[in-house]
Amino acid sequence: MVRITINGRQLEAPKGSTVLEVCRLHGIEVPTLCYDPELKPAGSCRMCVVEVKGRPTLQAACATPCENDMVVETESPAVVEARKVILELLLARHGGNCLTCEKNGNCKLQDYCYRYGVAESGFAEGGRPEYPVDDPNPFIERDYNKCVMCTLCVRACESITVARAIGVINRGHQAKIATAFDGNLADSSCVFCGQCIMVCPTGALTSKLSRGKGRAYEVKKVLTTCGYCGTGCTLE
Ligand code: FES
Repeated sequence: MVRITINGRQLEAPKGSTVLEVCRLHGIEVPTLCYDPELKPAGSCRMCVVEVKGRPTLQAACATPCENDMVVETESPAVVEARKVILELLLARHGGNCLTCEKNGNCKLQDYCYRYGVAESGFAEGGRPEYPVDDPNPFIERDYNKCVMCTLCVRACESITVARAIGVINRGHQAKIATAFDGNLADSSCVFCGQCIMVCPTGALTSKLSRGKGRAYEVKKVLTTCGYCGTGCTLE
């Protein structure tokens, strides 16, 4: 075990765990967009930045291993300021439209913008890339105008489903998630398992089957048995 102080609380952490894992273990809320405990860490969104005493720059909690006598602040003024800037940078390419978005009320980006009081981006002057929304398949709607490039969908497709149907193409502002040769999902190795929808933190990937059938806060989750492949997995 290692000893670590987070927000003034002295805690013990299993050796090898990250700052984020310890925070979660002790109920300390740290915002994350690109982290999923089941997937390889990417450290790309930087929403989880924290201040570590003695380090000159903010550290991504999801990618920082705990060390003995480490002193961490998760909501210091510098951290809050950095998260606001990060949200503005994300909004610079996020074509919002929360009013009609299927994820309204169940969107991490929306939650964090609300939490940190960020309503618009000061970095959107150059214009946002615009992507067509239509993808001719019966199951998954892909609206990359709402994508924050967390790559959770890519990692889920790679390591949970092992379909490897999608990846990142282009660079910088033009970077986006796409199938090989940027074609339709139906022409790729996608098996339409829906894992990408489950991990997407925004409305970039949604189910066409549930479209218009109720917002997240209007529907009740129940346990059910998936009939897709015959294995009989229990899902919520
Ligand atoms: Fe840590 Fe995205 S959650 S960098």
